[in-house]
Amino acid sequence: MYVVNMIYFQCDYAEGADPAIIERLSSTNMEQSEGYGLDKHSIRAKELIKKRIGKENADVHLLVGGTETNRIAIQAALRPYQGVLSPDTGHIAAHETGAIESTGHKVLTLPNIDGKINADQVRAYVKEHYDSPTAEHTVQPAMVYISEPTESGTLYSKKELIALREATKELGLFFYIDGARLGYALASPKCDFTIEDIADLADMFYIGGTKCGALFGEALVILNDQLKKDFRYMIKQNGALLAKGRMLGIQFETLFEDDRYFNITKKAVEKALRIREAFEKKGIPLFGTSYTNQQFPILSNEQIKALEKDYVFELWGKSGDKTIVRFCTSWATSDENTEKLISSILSM
Ligand SMILES: Cc1ncc(COP(=O)(O)O)c(C=O)c1O
Repeated sequence: MYVVNMIYFQCDYAEGADPAIIERLSSTNMEQSEGYGLDKHSIRAKELIKKRIGKENADVHLLVGGTETNRIAIQAALRPYQGVLSPDTGHIAAHETGAIESTGHKVLTLPNIDGKINADQVRAYVKEHYDSPTAEHTVQPAMVYISEPTESGTLYSKKELIALREATKELGLFFYIDGARLGYALASPKCDFTIEDIADLADMFYIGGTKCGALFGEALVILNDQLKKDFRYMIKQNGALLAKGRMLGIQFETLFEDDRYFNITKKAVEKALRIREAFEKKGIPLFGTSYTNQQFPILSNEQIKALEKDYVFELWGKSGDKTIVRFCTSWATSDENTEKLISSILSM
């Protein structure tokens, strides 16, 4: 339950939406438009996205949430007996209540290293599958799923992405990138790839809106022609073709005008890195190497108690007798609250 007077660093979707989006939703409120994403705002939003990623021939579909996007995208790509490789910590493996499995497709997990998997692991898994005399009695790996950034806020480098692209191409697998927080990845000072690179490397990826300034919404981009056919049928059958689709169109139109999407997330990452610095200065270890909007300090019970008085943050997991917690910034994090948290950390 939300408590008044507490400062929330719990997640990046605690507030509504970037004010520019609310203004645009309000100023277009009385417009009459076609339903199901065929309105002029959705069409323009898709054009802006295609232009920005440098892929005029991409198909873009605007969906409401991340789980829904993953479920539909993966289900649409796979044959009935196929499964998707994912880091064991991947969102589809660990946090989607079996949404992928509910479509009949197994999530095949690989052990993560700092939240990531690599091309060698993919090659080894696929080789082992086809070398097995009982290959046909098991689920066939047909796609690699990763998220950028990962669950623990880390980033795949461009080199690692290229290696995964090469492996998937060589092995005949699709390469799908979940970009629920893609804006925060691109805004990181450690990021060495662009959104154009992502569009070059993936068969499909999505640009997350919900966690990056939108009220809700994810823009799924399909690059591989094989995956484009009848996609709107898939969306509708899954109950995800929003009748008032213009709500999504208006939001992505606003986010992709003037690079708003990229500016919003950049500010959030800058604040997260100031918070990271404060933990480091205080000698508090951090879990993993996140240079995005999520930070994972490892705190003692006393430190948790001290910070819990004024701040809400997520308990993430155990590390010996200490606890990994998550502090998140977003488009809505104020400088004032960032400074307050920093001074609380330093005075613990
Ligand atoms: C990487 C990633 N993918 C997908 C999702 C799911 O999004 P939603 O909660 O909108 O279903 C999340 C949510 O935290 C996420 O972090």
